[in-house]
Amino acid sequence: MTPEGIEKLIRPDVVTFSGYRAAKSPDTLVGKVEVPVESIIKLDANENLYGCSPRVNQALATYPDLNIYPDSGQTQLRKLVQEYTGISAEHIVASSGSSQLIDLVLCLFVGPGDEVINCVPTFAMYQFYTQLRGGTLVEVPRDESFAVNVNAVKAAISKKTKIIFVANPNNPTGTITPWQDILELVDTGLPVLVDEAYYEFSGETVAPLVSQYKNLMVLRTFSKWAGLAGLRIGYGIFPPKIADYLLRIKPPYNVNAAAMVAVKESLKDIDYLLGRVKAIVAERERLFGKLEKLKWLKPYPSQANFIFCSVLVGEASELQQKLQNKGILVRYFDLPFWRNGIRISVGKPEHTDALIKALQKIGEEM
Ligand SMILES: Cc1ncc(COP(=O)(O)O)c(C=O)c1O
Repeated sequence: MTPEGIEKLIRPDVVTFSGYRAAKSPDTLVGKVEVPVESIIKLDANENLYGCSPRVNQALATYPDLNIYPDSGQTQLRKLVQEYTGISAEHIVASSGSSQLIDLVLCLFVGPGDEVINCVPTFAMYQFYTQLRGGTLVEVPRDESFAVNVNAVKAAISKKTKIIFVANPNNPTGTITPWQDILELVDTGLPVLVDEAYYEFSGETVAPLVSQYKNLMVLRTFSKWAGLAGLRIGYGIFPPKIADYLLRIKPPYNVNAAAMVAVKESLKDIDYLLGRVKAIVAERERLFGKLEKLKWLKPYPSQANFIFCSVLVGEASELQQKLQNKGILVRYFDLPFWRNGIRISVGKPEHTDALIKALQKIGEEM
């Protein structure tokens, strides 16, 4: 069969699917930047530049059971998350990164022709998985300060609407949606998925309210605050009935053994990790002040571990490329609802200093 023949058999919506523009791995930039790859400063994927707890490295170095499948029912893991969140294990489902739960929740509620409400600009994976599940995305623009427009969301609800997504804080803008607004959406009776990937940086959560509602769901991750992005481990807090369905449809062994060990060790080292979170939050404010002084960028206040900036002079894509040449990676956005912006992850103080120096140099050459 010719390659063209195979394409005729692939689902037409997948043939036209554009995929996800993932962050670049430094390994792919060898010879393309002015600095050695080891010196690249990665501020493009909201990772934790302090790394994970040293306890995780130690435990993984001696973990004896890599030849054995992990517990598919996640019994111990769900108990650990129960201790961390204070929410009972019957509400909890863990996943290979919280992104996997975005897909599983869509798998539960959304089929071809169903509508998903997305408050844009927001995290691109909601669109990604909605399209792959055959759903139709209904995009409701946030206001000029990137707040969710609750009335517009409610007006966008139709008979086909199956779920409303709210990232809180929002990625890429760092904006918080007040819990009162979230509850107004929950009162519509539709499933509402509140993605709290950056909860530890914002301190804002609706997780304690999940037990009071049949349609409120919360996603969390260990990628950001605990520095475990490379091990892919997240979880969600759901009404027990929804958790039961998710446990039924999730792939078996979806959380690998190394990730389980890492969570256990991270939670034993919580003071250390939350100390790092505090340092990142303080650094965010310092970075914000420095960005504000560059008159050609407009930073937006953020409750997460990144700052979104409108690029007021020149093109965001060119700025991203100039920074990349200097060995500093940031993310740029140039799509409807998020024209000409860059998102900068917050690193250590020395990363802020290097970034600001590079931006000042670029500014002088404009
Ligand atoms: C809002 C939001 N949700 C979920 C995720 C995915 O996190 P994970 O690494 O747990 O899949 C991200 C990652 O950037 C995010 O920004």
